[in-house]
Amino acid sequence: MTDATSLNLRKSLGKFATGVTVVTCRSGDGRSCGITANSFSSVSLDPPLILWNIAKTCNSLDAYLEAEHYAIHVLTNDQVHLASHFAQTDHKSYERIEHSISDNGVPILPDVLARFDCRTYQIYDAGDHHIIVGEILHHENHAGSPLLYYSGNYASLD
Ligand SMILES: Cc1cc2nc3c(=O)[nH]c(=O)nc-3n(C[C@H](O)[C@H](O)[C@H](O)COP(=O)(O)O)c2cc1C
Repeated sequence: MTDATSLNLRKSLGKFATGVTVVTCRSGDGRSCGITANSFSSVSLDPPLILWNIAKTCNSLDAYLEAEHYAIHVLTNDQVHLASHFAQTDHKSYERIEHSISDNGVPILPDVLARFDCRTYQIYDAGDHHIIVGEILHHENHAGSPLLYYSGNYASLD
């Protein structure tokens, strides 16, 4: 695909407004990982399944492919700083990020709109991404306004 074709495809795909999540896990060597992802989607209620996609170029790809547990955090409209932090390339330090660690070793971010604690259910190879399907083991939700992503920009409902 030429650069122009790829840019145009991204432009068309960007017309689909989404929420924004941060997906966290612990790597095999004990590092706390986090990436911003807007590919999150619900899949099934029974059993409770969700999915998200991870680029094969992601530095922490192996951590997510090997992780048994991970958490998906749906961000509020005042958490753009978290979205930007976890969209950076390379290992993202948790030093200045408020968080706790779950019993499974997964970093947990507070004050999000919703959180899904998942166990990896299935992983599919899909072009330059992997589709990761997770089984929801625990979930919670709170009042608030969502952070949105549309046409390459963050947006809000307000
Ligand atoms: C709004 C937004 C949504 C994103 N969604 C995804 C996604 O669904 N899957 C993905 O692999 N990368 C996505 N990215 C890019 C990753 O966040 C970014 O490439 C990743 O944090 C780089 O991590 P790495 O240093 O481990 O490679 C998104 C970035 C932004 C800003």
